[in-house]
Amino acid sequence: MTTIHDIMQVGVGIPDRDRFENFARDMLGFPASRSPDGKVTYVRPDQYQHRIAACTAPEPVLRYIGFDVGGPQQLAEWEIKLTAQGIHWRHSSPEECVERHVGNFIEFKDPDGHPLALSYGFEVDKEPVRYTRDLSVLRLGHVLLTVEDTQRTHDFYTGVLGFRLSDWVYVDDNIRLCFLRCNERHHSMAFAPCMPGKSPRLQHVMLEVESLDDVMRSYHFLRMHKAPIGMGPGRHPNCHTIHVYVQTPGGFAVEFGWGHRRLDDATHQPIVYPIGSPVDIWGGDIQSPEFELG
Ligand SMILES: [Fe+2]
Repeated sequence: MTTIHDIMQVGVGIPDRDRFENFARDMLGFPASRSPDGKVTYVRPDQYQHRIAACTAPEPVLRYIGFDVGGPQQLAEWEIKLTAQGIHWRHSSPEECVERHVGNFIEFKDPDGHPLALSYGFEVDKEPVRYTRDLSVLRLGHVLLTVEDTQRTHDFYTGVLGFRLSDWVYVDDNIRLCFLRCNERHHSMAFAPCMPGKSPRLQHVMLEVESLDDVMRSYHFLRMHKAPIGMGPGRHPNCHTIHVYVQTPGGFAVEFGWGHRRLDDATHQPIVYPIGSPVDIWGGDIQSPEFELG
């Protein structure tokens, strides 16, 4: 059976791309470059040509999440599989593949309208990453999306896309967080319910860093430069990630995380962390009013 191998890219639209670009360089620590036509800003935290691609948009918007399915044969199998399940999908254009630096992709929407791209052939940059501060990122770890109905989303991602349930964390009666994996990492996709009056959106992008030092260096750097730290340093109860979150001017946060748990599909049983579970077992709370969970 063909499966999703990994989460690879996030495409966003943001109102003030210059500000976001400067923030990516000066605060996040990543090189940022523009496409030849200037319409896309590429943020490069690791060996791939980019992990976050930003266009200019009137409001912050998630343009796509790019997943790796392996190659052309697997993508063809996905076309058949999605069609059989009544999912309306579309082919990419050659221009879009150039823009995303991938071989090919197909795209469709999840139940909340979040665009998902099944792709292959992600371009690697052979030049070492020139971080603007002392930092080493291993990979794009996961994203957290807000959704109208976390159970409906769980059913779609597990039933249609083959994700596995790692656990639920019930923060309170309303905030029930769902964590799904597509490989040995505890989660590649996480979902939270929308806050009242808010629309589904990209809440954060997690970058897995090489060492605990990278988390703590990031924390002190961001704190000293008065960047809007959302949470942390702290540790999540379920995935064990030691984290710091910073809110970007793109309307979403970036999480620097280390110690993210790996699960064995053969033995892991999904867990429900009961109502009252903290999101940080060290007791930290939300620090910046710009940072919202839902
Ligand atoms: Fe996270």
